[in-house]
Amino acid sequence: MLNIVVCVSGGGTNLQAIIDGVKEGKIRNTKIVGVISNNVGAYALQRAEDAGIPAFCISPKNFESREEFNEAFLKQLKELNPGLIVLAGFLVILPEKMIEVYRDRIINIHPSLIPSFCGTGYYGLKVHEAALTRGVKVTGATVHYVDEGTDTGRIIMQKAVDVLEGDTPEVLQRRVMEQAEWIILPKAIDKIATASE
Ligand code: GRF
Repeated sequence: MLNIVVCVSGGGTNLQAIIDGVKEGKIRNTKIVGVISNNVGAYALQRAEDAGIPAFCISPKNFESREEFNEAFLKQLKELNPGLIVLAGFLVILPEKMIEVYRDRIINIHPSLIPSFCGTGYYGLKVHEAALTRGVKVTGATVHYVDEGTDTGRIIMQKAVDVLEGDTPEVLQRRVMEQAEWIILPKAIDKIATASE
């Protein structure tokens, strides 16, 4: 059984796709042992609670220094002892130590086809704004392993999504979520969880 911890900052629609995937048997051999948010107002925390999953908020705002926050974050992770950490819209720069300790056991979902529209500064709606400004006709989402760089880790899965005439960043963001993110993130977790069976 693969024990996973999902890290979130916002609405948690990707978290919901994972919760549903586990429930419906699309993600096999997997248990969500905890959800950690850096943002106390994240609706994702409510989603976790509704699903009966232990949810924790560890916010940098509640600590004197970044080091203290990093320590508390790592301590919580250690207690949950995950086999895999899933970053699902987690807007925090990870402590370097965390990447060392959990090497090849952290994955992230990014809302573009890496290597396009990724790296520092490309998060949330900014990714879709950049895709529209460049005028690409196809975009998508990528699930990848997390290393020391920003969106540079090994790619696990990608899915393309059409950009349509008249798209706004918001409309495109929604289509990328529906047609790519909510599909490939559960699939990637299932792939990892069943790889060693
Ligand atoms: C998604 O677009 C994800 O790709 C990005 O942040 C957003 C999170 O949305 N990294 P949600 O919180 O899962 O609804």
